[in-house]
Amino acid sequence: MNFVLGSKQETITLEENKYLVKSTHDNISFIASYVQYLVLTLLLATNSYTKEMTDIEALASLPTRCTYEYAYDMYGAHCGGLRLTKIPNLKGGIEILDFSDNKLQEIHDDTLSYYTSIKHLYLSENQIYSIDKDAFTYLTYLQTLDLSKNVIFELPETIFHLPSLRKLYLNGNPLLHLSLSNMVIRKPIKAPLELLDLSECKIKVMPDLGILPHMMLYNISHNPLTSLDAYTFSAMCKLATVDLTESIDNIKLCDMKLSITWFQEKGIYFQLGDYTRLNSREYENCPRPEIPENLNATYNLCRTEYIQIQNIKTSRRTWLTISGGLFGFLVCFVLLLYIMHRHNVAQTKKITKDVKKVAPTEDKTATAVLLNNVS
Ligand SMILES: *[C@@H]1O[C@H](CO)[C@@H](O)[C@H](O)[C@H]1NC(C)=O
Ligand SMILES: *[C@@H]1O[C@H](CO)[C@@H](O)[C@H](O)[C@H]1NC(C)=O
Repeated sequence: MNFVLGSKQETITLEENKYLVKSTHDNISFIASYVQYLVLTLLLATNSYTKEMTDIEALASLPTRCTYEYAYDMYGAHCGGLRLTKIPNLKGGIEILDFSDNKLQEIHDDTLSYYTSIKHLYLSENQIYSIDKDAFTYLTYLQTLDLSKNVIFELPETIFHLPSLRKLYLNGNPLLHLSLSNMVIRKPIKAPLELLDLSECKIKVMPDLGILPHMMLYNISHNPLTSLDAYTFSAMCKLATVDLTESIDNIKLCDMKLSITWFQEKGIYFQLGDYTRLNSREYENCPRPEIPENLNATYNLCRTEYIQIQNIKTSRRTWLTISGGLFGFLVCFVLLLYIMHRHNVAQTKKITKDVKKVAPTEDKTATAVLLNNVS
């Protein structure tokens, strides 16, 4: 079907379609596409006077909907950039949902509760300002949550307790700082966070999330920080990179020295964008701080927890291997027993047959022989 042709040809194809529809009453999806086509032709008819419509424009006016595909061995729904105001009914079992660049404003407890298998959820560039307390609670497999570039005012604390959450993007939420500083977060948090992006959120004081034994990348760049509490970093004993670009301009040079010393001590890469302040004579002249005991204690606590989690993981793996091996052995054993049993049954049958064969001819002697054999 060529939508770009003149209106006469369109009517011809329309009649063809009518005929086709008549001949296939039962095909509902065909009727649906027919209706869609009708709407399209109507749309095109109103536009036809321009006569300059290109294929691309025709495609752009098509009604848009989510598409499904396999990516990275996962089943995903892609609804990005469709200007949707709510999440449509999607197929169950999806593991990836890309709903970025839409017009979603509120996430309620039941908005996503049906899609419990989601592992990666992308909701960036919407207009989200409100998230219900249990909006994500049912998503126990959720590993990546991208809420960047929204207008979130209040974040439910429950997000930090999602049992599988490893990557949390909250960057570009200019209202978040209003509630973040008063937020009461139960500690320790359950989410095994490896990445936390809080860049461009107008944050003045870094939130206290307690011990984060998996945290590797902390992005707190482009925030007007007023302090750089070294304690925050000591509670992240696996930290490899911290991005502080354009976030430390309001902090007194000497107040940063403890954190900077900590980064150097622990081999943490700290990104600043501009290192001139740290290369100054003024910074050099700041008294070199002693690393206080409580930082070491927090760090060691974090390490211990990390090692414990690692041990649990390895022992779980070991148990799985052992029980798997044991199961395999049992199956083989049972199989062997069965084969032996079958073999025995066959043998016994053979013997009884032989006895029967012998029995009718020489009654008493045969039994005597048998008895003699036994004794
Ligand atoms: C941190 O966030 C900023 C702004 O969102 C981004 O440009 C930068 O690449 C991020 N840093 C890292 C290390 O990912
Ligand atoms: C903390 O640990 C560092 C070495 O990692 C050490 O130099 C420092 O003296 C310790 N601080 C205290 C108060 O024990």
